Amino acid sequence: FGITTGSLPSITETHEFVVPKSIPIILLIINIFLDIDKSYANLICWHYVSFFNLFFNYIWHVKTNPYKRITTKTLHEMKKNGEKISMLTSYDFTFAKILDEANIDIILVGDSASNVFAGNETTVPITLDEMIYHAKSVVKAVKRALVVVDLPFGTYQSDPQEALRSAIRIMKESGAHAVKLEGGFEVSESITRIINAGIPVMGHLGLTPQSIYKFGTYNVRGANKTEADQLISDAQDLERIGCFASVLEKIPAQLAENVSKKTKFPLIGIGAGNHVDGQVLVLHDLIGLTNEFNPRFLRRYLDLNTSIKDAVSRYIDDVKSESFPNKDEMY
Ligand code: KIV
Repeated sequence: FGITTGSLPSITETHEFVVPKSIPIILLIINIFLDIDKSYANLICWHYVSFFNLFFNYIWHVKTNPYKRITTKTLHEMKKNGEKISMLTSYDFTFAKILDEANIDIILVGDSASNVFAGNETTVPITLDEMIYHAKSVVKAVKRALVVVDLPFGTYQSDPQEALRSAIRIMKESGAHAVKLEGGFEVSESITRIINAGIPVMGHLGLTPQSIYKFGTYNVRGANKTEADQLISDAQDLERIGCFASVLEKIPAQLAENVSKKTKFPLIGIGAGNHVDGQVLVLHDLIGLTNEFNPRFLRRYLDLNTSIKDAVSRYIDDVKSESFPNKDEMY
């Protein structure tokens, strides 16, 4: 029968299509009723009922889950249809499961794990083994989203063979769907090598945190004409050599718009304004687990740092006052 019930997930307006939840249930009752007395006429009716049931379920499913599984091809379709792409970071199973169930399009196992998860000052120290560990946990949780994993610093810059070996390790050992790496023209040979081996690559231009020691600051990139022209040319290179998308980090909105006009592949912005095809944020920032990082582009949807501290204080009080555990919480 394949009856689908439950609440309608939140969906974009263009896909909004409300099928009354009661329809499959009514059809099931009619079906059961007709099954009791299987006259010839009833059997024909039964087939009609089954057909409509399947039809409604199909429409419901298609309209509420327009994309069953996000692939690199889906992202291009989304761009073509003008549907924005949502992307968030995750480094572990539990958060990845929540994001996937909430219908996020892309989960990035970002090397920001180095700061957020491991407490390093920069993304430079995180290793390939550590990224694979995070990616493996994320992949286990995901049914729908595209999982993209950052190639960490030092695993693709020296030569294309090494880049390919690193990308292959990520794909084989974690089961992820694509890799991301930072840079433009200077890493194009490595990207080409990886793509030729059948591994999808997402680019990353603008602020490239792995090069923090070269630039010395996390300021906006592409603010002068030379940098802006270079960035546009890098984006065109990434598209030409076959990257399926690129992140644009912390650049003026006007520059992102210019990149968008000069390329056709999906551009995912973080601090790059709204003339791009999607947005990415670090999940821990979005839900307010971190509270010391406050760039202008960040919108916090929760203040979990305060909520967790509050919960922990109440727990400590309850332990100290011996009100936890109570009778109902004992065996
Ligand atoms: O590592 C990361 O989290 C990232 C995003 C900021 C795009 O690269």
